[in-house]
Amino acid sequence: MYSEKVMEHFNNPRNVGELENPSGVGTVGNAKCGDIMRIYFDIDDQGVIRDAKFKTFGCGAAVATSSMATELVKGKTVQQALSVTNKAVMEALDGLPPVKVHCSLLAEEAIHAALWDYAQKNGIVIEGLKKPVEDIEEKAQEEEY
Ligand code: FES
Repeated sequence: MYSEKVMEHFNNPRNVGELENPSGVGTVGNAKCGDIMRIYFDIDDQGVIRDAKFKTFGCGAAVATSSMATELVKGKTVQQALSVTNKAVMEALDGLPPVKVHCSLLAEEAIHAALWDYAQKNGIVIEGLKKPVEDIEEKAQEEEY
């Protein structure tokens, strides 16, 4: 039921770990399934994401989406990183089963939370970035995932 890419990223997740003194860090969870994801960014003076790491306490799809999401944001500016939506992550993984779509939402929201933290620390506004939620369950229901 999982694509080969999902299995590959689950078995060999990229960017696992933490960053010391991250430029931004974001943690989100889903109260319903109990899964938690934390993403760390190292962002340079030009606003480019130089490095990204993650720690995910969650299901296999959450691990695979964290892995892919961190791969996709590396080298992007903070503004471009907003294009790494849950749909973009799912596409890059050749899809997820419908019951696992919410796992990719965790990745999108963790990216937003880390960007939000970076923006707060630096007193900047990232256009189009909304204040992230800590528990994506509300959002998942709103969007009927
Ligand atoms: Fe909750 Fe995957 S089952 S993140």
